Amino acid sequence: MPLSDFLDGLKDNPYFGAGFGLVGVGTALAVARKGAQVGMVFFRRNYMITLEVPSRDKSYHWLLSWITKHATHTQHLSVETSYMAHESGRVHTQFDFHPSPGNHIIWYGRKWIRVERTREKQMLNLQTGTPWESITFTALGRDRQIFFNILQEARELALKQEEGRTVMYTAMGGEWRPFGFPRRRRPLSSVVLEAGVAERLVDDVKDFIGNPRWYTDRGIPYRRGYLLFGPPGCGKSSFITALAGELGYSICLMSLSDRTLSDDRLNHLLSVAPQQSIILLEDVDAAFVSRELLPTENPLAYQGMGRLTFSGLLNSLDGVASSEARIVFMTTNFIDRLDPALIRPGRVDLKQYIGHCTAWQLAQMFRRFYPDQPPSEGDRFAKLALAVHTEISAAQVQGHFLLHKMDPAGSIDDVAQIRG
Ligand SMILES: Nc1ncnc2c1ncn2[C@@H]1O[C@H](COP(=O)(O)OP(=O)(O)O)[C@@H](O)[C@H]1O
Ligand SMILES: [Mg+2]
Repeated sequence: MPLSDFLDGLKDNPYFGAGFGLVGVGTALAVARKGAQVGMVFFRRNYMITLEVPSRDKSYHWLLSWITKHATHTQHLSVETSYMAHESGRVHTQFDFHPSPGNHIIWYGRKWIRVERTREKQMLNLQTGTPWESITFTALGRDRQIFFNILQEARELALKQEEGRTVMYTAMGGEWRPFGFPRRRRPLSSVVLEAGVAERLVDDVKDFIGNPRWYTDRGIPYRRGYLLFGPPGCGKSSFITALAGELGYSICLMSLSDRTLSDDRLNHLLSVAPQQSIILLEDVDAAFVSRELLPTENPLAYQGMGRLTFSGLLNSLDGVASSEARIVFMTTNFIDRLDPALIRPGRVDLKQYIGHCTAWQLAQMFRRFYPDQPPSEGDRFAKLALAVHTEISAAQVQGHFLLHKMDPAGSIDDVAQIRG
């Protein structure tokens, strides 16, 4: 069929004809819509202000809490569950409610503010493996001050929550996320180490923090590494938590046996760690164990379990790029399983053995737990305990006291049961 015939045929088709008639209306609608769009764009440009906060920004989490506090009417929440299994077997979970992705309207500063939390379904943050998120605030008017006020309030709110508390961060992909609510600071005095040990460590760290000039003047990277070693349950982790509290620092907890950890990611994480924080590498020997105990001499020891190589670990620890004070604490139950390169001076500047309880520690712990008892009872307890067992961990002492909460005499009588 020639083309002209085909077109003629179309003209007679009633549907096509009707469609043709509608084009006029359609165009008018399209123009109107376009006009409205242009108008909206104009309105937005001139009479609305917006602020976008991406999830990687520090204030993002502050703002989430701020929104939760202000969007009291919102019925659409999402939950963030923090879960942590302690070595003691205690499991800690916590639910945080946040406004869910979508729109929320907040009345603030005598203005309506639209808050839109968006989550990109298609797009993952490649570094963190988490969905890309952002919050956008939109307000009428031209005054940016309102956003400053919000940011400031959000920050103050967050800082108030953190006051007197220790924030724990864990690595999520390429960033550090606060883990659960900040915990109440653990007082240093609650961790009873052998006489002088805690003081030695605290003085060293304080001295380091107080003297950045010494390092910059000599062109030495401003970092200091510590290794606490010794049997489990003797206070390595507790001491570091208490130390962070004493300094007003947060803790960035990093697990080397994390299978998704690569050289690049570790390096990145160490360079973006929050200011005033202690990087804590717990049980650094465990990376070896999970590799089914390859010979520890093997410099590629960490390979195979993840993409983290031993040399990658060393490079990250040396942290050439960091200009911030960098405090790294490592703990291990088995110092002899560690490669000497990992703990040589410059990477680990101070090693401290945290061992089983001495008589002094036992007496001290007794007196702390039963403050009403005459001090001599503490000495009696210590002597009896060490007569039965020479290797007692502070965790065992603590457990023993808890079994005899109100009964100091019973705690002494039953001392043979101290190791459970
Ligand atoms: N020196 C200590 N003084 C007081 N409590 C201690 C001490 N050592 C351990 N504990 C208690 O025992 C438990 C385990 O201690 P932790 O610090 O995790 O030991 P580590 O890290 O050396 O294995 C914690 O509940 C802690 O309160
Ligand atoms: Mg520990």
